[in-house]
Amino acid sequence: MGTERKRKVSLFDVVDETSVSAKIVKSNGAMSNNTNGGISLINRWNGKPYSQRYYDILDKRKNLPVWHQKEEFLQVLKKNQVIILVGETGSGKTTQVCSLFFSFSLVCLLYIPQFVLEAVDLESPDKRRKMMIGCTQPRRVAAMSVSRRVAEEMDVTIGEEVGYSIRFEDCSSARTVLKYLTDGMLLREAMTDPLLERYKVVILDEAHERTLSTDVLFGLLKEVLKNRPDLKLVVMSATLEAEKFQGYFGEAPLMKVPGRLHPVEIFYTQEPERDYLEAAIRTVVQIHLCEPLGDILVFLTGEEEIEDACRKITKEVGNLGDQVGPVKVVPLYSTLPPAMQQKIFDPAPPPLQEGGPSGRKIVVSTNIAETSLTIDGIVYVIDPGFSKQKVYNPRVRVESLLVSPISKASAHQRSGRAGRTQPGKCFRLYTEKSFNQDLQPQTYPEILRSNLANTVLTLKKLGIDDLVHFDFMDPPAPETLMRALEVLNYLGALDDEGNLTKLGEIMSEFPLDPQLSKMLVVSPEFNCSNEILSISAMLSGHHQQLSCMGPMPPDGMYHRILIPNCFVRPREAHKAADEAKARFGHIDGDHLTLLNVYHAYKQNNEDPSWCYENFVNHRALKAADNVRQQLVRIMARFNLKLCSTDFNSRDYYINIRKAILAGYFMQVAHLEHSGHYLTVKDNQVVHLHPSNCLDHKPEWVVYNEYVLTSRNYIRTVVDIRGEWLVDIAPHYYDLQNFPQCEAKRVLEKLYRKREREREENRNRK
Ligand code: CDP
Ligand code: MG
Repeated sequence: MGTERKRKVSLFDVVDETSVSAKIVKSNGAMSNNTNGGISLINRWNGKPYSQRYYDILDKRKNLPVWHQKEEFLQVLKKNQVIILVGETGSGKTTQVCSLFFSFSLVCLLYIPQFVLEAVDLESPDKRRKMMIGCTQPRRVAAMSVSRRVAEEMDVTIGEEVGYSIRFEDCSSARTVLKYLTDGMLLREAMTDPLLERYKVVILDEAHERTLSTDVLFGLLKEVLKNRPDLKLVVMSATLEAEKFQGYFGEAPLMKVPGRLHPVEIFYTQEPERDYLEAAIRTVVQIHLCEPLGDILVFLTGEEEIEDACRKITKEVGNLGDQVGPVKVVPLYSTLPPAMQQKIFDPAPPPLQEGGPSGRKIVVSTNIAETSLTIDGIVYVIDPGFSKQKVYNPRVRVESLLVSPISKASAHQRSGRAGRTQPGKCFRLYTEKSFNQDLQPQTYPEILRSNLANTVLTLKKLGIDDLVHFDFMDPPAPETLMRALEVLNYLGALDDEGNLTKLGEIMSEFPLDPQLSKMLVVSPEFNCSNEILSISAMLSGHHQQLSCMGPMPPDGMYHRILIPNCFVRPREAHKAADEAKARFGHIDGDHLTLLNVYHAYKQNNEDPSWCYENFVNHRALKAADNVRQQLVRIMARFNLKLCSTDFNSRDYYINIRKAILAGYFMQVAHLEHSGHYLTVKDNQVVHLHPSNCLDHKPEWVVYNEYVLTSRNYIRTVVDIRGEWLVDIAPHYYDLQNFPQCEAKRVLEKLYRKREREREENRNRK
């Protein structure tokens, strides 16, 4: 053991990270080029010499604003349990604060006076687990991308010392000390570890996003901190609303990282734009033609729009010929595979020939790039002023994602992205008048715009019974809470007193919406849990992450709009794609069509080329298959039987449809004489989404999703029978509190019919 290992590091002794986390070995000169003044440094996390890349990145890191405030930060944290840290996006909060804890093993420094490095047995997974640092991210993409970056900075393999955990994907191990996880995942962990005992430090990052899960974590951590004086909490946020956090956490100290933003010139359009997508593409081309060197960031609202824009930009720039430099157009959205996400960090392409016009990188992104991810080299930002946002109407229980105007605060953040490395320009595709008059100052917290059924179930599971007095930073409307309690009561997850039932306990263990988990949990009773598992996985495997406050699902408890996006429909092959889809079609409904696709995928050995030939998204199916395996594990934990009805039995599909209804009896629509569908109880006029596979218009349908557009659509529907409503969900279809409508009259008849049958049965006996 070398002398360096005996070296004592005093509490809060701030030294260059390499001297603490590295074991210094005398170099024999020829050993390696990773030397630091003739001394080769060994990364003590994995015992390997640091790579050259490590030193390259280290130089960059030392220039980040946060780096210079390490010492002050530690001093403040020493004296306080909670600290609020605000700083411009890109100042190094997410990467440097976390790695600060990591590299100093600060967790130990904080708790073991006179900490001696070797006192911590880094080989003991048990000890490591109890000193973890958890850093939450509202977005899956950010959790993955940032953890990968920090692993690189620390020169360790991702998933070992530094890892991440998002819904349905855990990339961490017993060795993991620093874990990035979605806020929803931390909530899930709290369900089994209420005091978050594996953590010594919890960092709630991107607090300004005010996602549903982060808001719940605020209230939860406030309680946990009282019971765990040894736990430290860091709340990190862009420079928004910081005082509000401070007030909420009992005047915790606020530290500001001085921003180093370069000036950004803002341009508005003279007239409102009719088509923001077209305007955005036009602006990109203009910039590429007329503006000096520098990369471009375009904000759009979702996957389809982004892919469309990328294609068009590439085409239009191609049309300009070689009077302009080459471009590299890269999309960024949550469902993009990790390897593709990484491409946003690639450098701009070099000129085609020496001395020719230089190349440009063009990133077309959702809100992810607004504050969660920083792309260096962006000089031009194009902001059409929209993002997809979740809206909830508790009266009709409809939650949807709508493309809506952003807030002034968002617009400000977006423009800031242009001035990270040098002075930049931001092109707002709306008028200055519209900015001043139409945009709200801030985005509303998600908790005020969400269906809270899932949140309430989680809170109940966490042992929080008194929801009215739970310390929400912004309490949701009482009506929304009541609606959530009511839904959970109808599902049987809560009893009439509002206590969690046995069924509710099991349901809360599934990282799914309550209706979906109910359907799964009761599926063995309908002898079709194998099939319901496949359908559930197909419904949640490929989901669209909420872009504004972090889609999807987030994560575990993120209430997501589930989009079974497994069908590919390329512009140039619409007809072939539709024919392919029709081959999977099941006339009784889309859920069954999804089941057919899944079965065909498995029968064809999960072959990517089979997927390609059949216009099926291989990635979506692979994801669904993975989700299915995880759901199977949860089923096994609760001894829920895996079973199927004989495929040749006429009950095979009937049982599946009944099981679907058992979870989704609150999402039923009835075909009126007028030829329209009305949602049951809420009486909203809806239309079957054109993507449906039915060959007829069933009298009753269950729907998975309500899509709000100019027409109200119900998407992913299945044919069910009125009798089943009476049999499976009589408590919900109790006609005493049912609005007058055709459906009610039909149900009255069905109840009478059942009554007669019962009578006859009794007489027969
Ligand atoms: O959290 P905050 O917005 O304050 O900054 P950060 O995410 O910690 O990023 C700090 C810097 O690290 C960025 O400005 C980038 O220069 C760099 N970075 C990177 O190059 N690649 C990543 N995947 C993440 C960060
Ligand atoms: Mg950050």
